[in-house]
Order: sequence, then C-alpha cells, then structure tokens
Amino acid sequence: MRQETLESSPSSCDLISENMDKQLDLKNIALIGRTFEEYYRMFDLGNLPANENILDVASGVSSFCAEASIKGYNVTASDRIYTSSPLEIEKKCRQDLDEVIKQMPGLVELFTWNFFKDIRSLRAQREKAYKLFIENFKKNKSKTYIPVEYPATDFIDNQFTISLVSHLLFLYEDLINYDLHKKIILELLRITSKEIRIFPLVNLKGKKSSLIGTLLQDKDLGQYQISVKKVNYEFMKNGNEMMIIKH
Ligand SMILES: C[S@@+](CC[C@H](N)C(=O)[O-])C[C@H]1O[C@@H](n2cnc3c(N)ncnc32)[C@H](O)[C@@H]1O
Repeated sequence: MRQETLESSPSSCDLISENMDKQLDLKNIALIGRTFEEYYRMFDLGNLPANENILDVASGVSSFCAEASIKGYNVTASDRIYTSSPLEIEKKCRQDLDEVIKQMPGLVELFTWNFFKDIRSLRAQREKAYKLFIENFKKNKSKTYIPVEYPATDFIDNQFTISLVSHLLFLYEDLINYDLHKKIILELLRITSKEIRIFPLVNLKGKKSSLIGTLLQDKDLGQYQISVKKVNYEFMKNGNEMMIIKH
C-alpha cells in the first residue's frame, strides 16, 4: 500500500471520467468519515448484543466510536492517522471532503440517492461525522483512539469480540493487494474472538471485488465460516452487502 503522511500526500481524491464509462478513481485512500447511523446499517448492528467489545478498523474521521460510546457500546477506534494532531487531521479531511464534493456532480449516477438526498446532504453528513470525531478525539485520544498501521498491531489475542472494517478492504483493491488483504484479515482473526464484518464488497467502480473469489478459495482461511449478507444501506450502487468471517 502506498504510504502517505498528512503533510506530504497529494489531495486524496482524483476523480476521473474515462470515455463514456465514468468511474471513481481515488489515487489515495481518502480521509472521509461516516456516521453511527451509516455503520449501524452497513454492519447490521441491530442484531448485536450490547456488551460486545468492538474494534473499528481503519476508523479514520468516522464518528462511529464517538456516537456509539454515548449509546453505551464499547468501541475502540484504530487508524494510522491517530499519531497526528487534531488540527492536522482536520485540515487534511477538510481538503479531502472539498475535493470529493467538487467532483460529485460528474459522478452522481455511480450512487443511489436514498440515504443522502443530494450532494448537499452528503456534505452535511460527512461534516457532522468529522466534527463529532475531532471533538471526541481531542478528549479521548490516548484512551479510545489507537494508532495502528495494519496489518501489524499490538493488540493481544482475542482482545475484541467483533471487528468492523468500513471502506478499506475490497473497495481499494487497486491500492491494497490480495496479500495485504489476507494479512490484515488474519491479524483481525487473531485479535477478534467472534467475527469480522467487512463493508462494502465492491471496488471503486461499483463492481464486486475480484479479491473476494481469491479469498473464498484461500486454503489458509478454509477453517473460518465466510458468508455474505445483504444490508439496509446502499450509497455506492451495488454496495449493499457485508462479509462476515467467523471463527
Ligand atoms: C475511507 S477511510 C474510512 C474511514 C472509516 N472506516 C469510515 O468508513 O468512515 C479509510 C481509512 O483507512 C485508513 N487506513 C488506510 N490504510 C491503513 C492501514 N494500513 N492501517 C491503518 N489505517 C489505514 C486511512 O487513514 C483512512 O482513515
């Protein structure tokens, strides 16, 4: 995976229209965050017992951890950006959000506009997410926001019961190869006692990731139960399924 720092990385989103076939083409992994309500739908959290010990993997500027904690969930957030200051993170995610929103008018047909009515509402939700995140990050930085560069972690075996991976694996298959997907998943299986949930299963073109077939055939993962479940969330067209990997 391409390494980047907050200071030196180019704008994270370059959205390119290719011929008649428009597609979302992110040059780097975007610093864009989702809200609790999106996580709740993406990961079908209605069926989770309240006492789960949840790891949010590559949580970035999502407000899931902040909002979930208020609702009584036990969540640890983890991302490589958590070595940076709140000011540095806010600056970078504002740039990324501005860039994405600037490009959206040319890409509207890649998305379904039910959860978000329009681009203005998308922007409002993304701003809400990062503002709630920054506020909570300032207060709880050392307690609930753990700097991690996956696949390596310092977490102990079975430290968490459930791990949630939103908008990292499969989506960025052009930037993260299969070997790294596998290493991240195996590490999550080491530190998670029950199951891993991954959303979405599509790549940036809105097509089912080709890495899913490879993963299902992988003998090193043969001992785990892998299933796919349709969920009540679809922003990127066809992105309405999560993968569950169980011990
Ligand atoms: C598109 S954001 C998703 C954030 C959040 N999960 C959400 O859905 O709102 C991707 C995040 O992955 C993080 N990231 C990418 N590669 C990583 C790695 N190897 N280890 C830790 N975090 C990583 C980035 O810093 C970024 O915050």
